[in-house]
Amino acid sequence: MRLPIVLYGDPILRRKAEPIAELTPELEEFAHRMIETMIQANGVGLAAPQVGRSLRLFVLRDELEDSPAEVVINPEISHPSDELQADLEGCLSIPKLQLEIVRPLRIHVRYRNLQWESIEEDLEGFRARVFMHENDHLNGRLIIDRVGADVRKQIEPVLRKIKLKEQKR
Ligand code: NI
Repeated sequence: MRLPIVLYGDPILRRKAEPIAELTPELEEFAHRMIETMIQANGVGLAAPQVGRSLRLFVLRDELEDSPAEVVINPEISHPSDELQADLEGCLSIPKLQLEIVRPLRIHVRYRNLQWESIEEDLEGFRARVFMHENDHLNGRLIIDRVGADVRKQIEPVLRKIKLKEQKR
């Protein structure tokens, strides 16, 4: 069953999410529902705060095609490359908005998967970008915080509209 996705304006998107101490059957079920929700919404990533739970957990997949989705728990990012890359990003909580975001090209990551195994990886390009976008959600940060003041001013009317929609729900 698909989970409702909260929109920009909901305060949970601005909160720092809590680490997960242990995996429970309920959390496993929740993670599977997040994957379903991400796929149905045509997203490549979805963080727990976006579906109303302030937990350090997100799901992601490599392509819009049929690649298997992954669950990331308690992620840590280190060793960002000096080399940066700009690319367009959208967010399921800020519909219809695409912004050019500059991020490190490569990062090192540590996290736990849904089997509670500790994983370490070097990520590059698209996968690194999605990982950083979702990790931002766990720290209350959104793509609109990563653009210049001029762009932010330009998109303000769109953001106001989304906020009104969120308040009416
Ligand atoms: Ni997002």
